Amino acid sequence: MELDLKKLPTHVAIIMDGNGRWAKSRGLPRVYGHKKGAEVARNIIDKTCELGIPYLTLFAFSKENWQRPEHEIQVLFMLLEDYLNKELPEMQKKGIRFRGVGDIEEFPERLVKKIKEVEEKTKNNKNMTLCLALNYGGKQDILRAVRLIAEKVKSGELSPENISEEVFKKYLHTPDIPDPDLLIRTSGELRISNFYLFQLAYTELYFTPVFWPDFNEEEYIKALISYQQRERRFGKVND
Ligand code: IPE
Ligand code: IPE
Ligand code: MG
Repeated sequence: MELDLKKLPTHVAIIMDGNGRWAKSRGLPRVYGHKKGAEVARNIIDKTCELGIPYLTLFAFSKENWQRPEHEIQVLFMLLEDYLNKELPEMQKKGIRFRGVGDIEEFPERLVKKIKEVEEKTKNNKNMTLCLALNYGGKQDILRAVRLIAEKVKSGELSPENISEEVFKKYLHTPDIPDPDLLIRTSGELRISNFYLFQLAYTELYFTPVFWPDFNEEEYIKALISYQQRERRFGKVND
């Protein structure tokens, strides 16, 4: 099977999982897995841009990940800052618009500043939108939207009967991002882990046992080909 460049998804979302187990299997500390994982993320971002897929979301830090050891969290923040520093010129060159998706303000101030700076500087880039899900939780995203909507209703700006799917979506962290067509999760876990919930309602799911640090272009193409073989019916009957 070859990849059909005319039938690519508009939005690919990835739960990058298995960094820790990858490191452990090599007798290395978990953080080495994150380091290698960050390199893989760079490659997959480049490949996505090269293929002309307009939206990519990478799940990089969940609400639940605060429960990890402090040292591991610090390394993840450091890798993120390093990525943003090094890749900003590349994003400009390749026309990548960067977006942090999640409750970013709860991150250390320096990181928040950096994220905002990269968002601001890349906001007019047109080739691809890279969403990094950071301090993100699907349930929290929905609850936040509900709170924002409740405020609007309370102030009389919005009436309950006008809360359509389209209106609701505007209050999520992803108001201007189309829902993912394909979700990839690495490392063999068969769960969503509180990633996009509302947004994944009709997404095609792809699970691979490959740990994220071993994920590569070839594995990515395999996932995309699998997606292209699916029949997306959206509840309808296809002739
Ligand atoms: C994914 O790899 C990276 C993050 C969640 C930040 P893990 O760190 O979850 O790796 P495993 O699942 O423990 O192997
Ligand atoms: C999901 O992976 C979060 C990210 C990839 C950032 P986890 O490793 O945190 O999820 P669980 O613990 O297996 O559900
Ligand atoms: Mg994991």
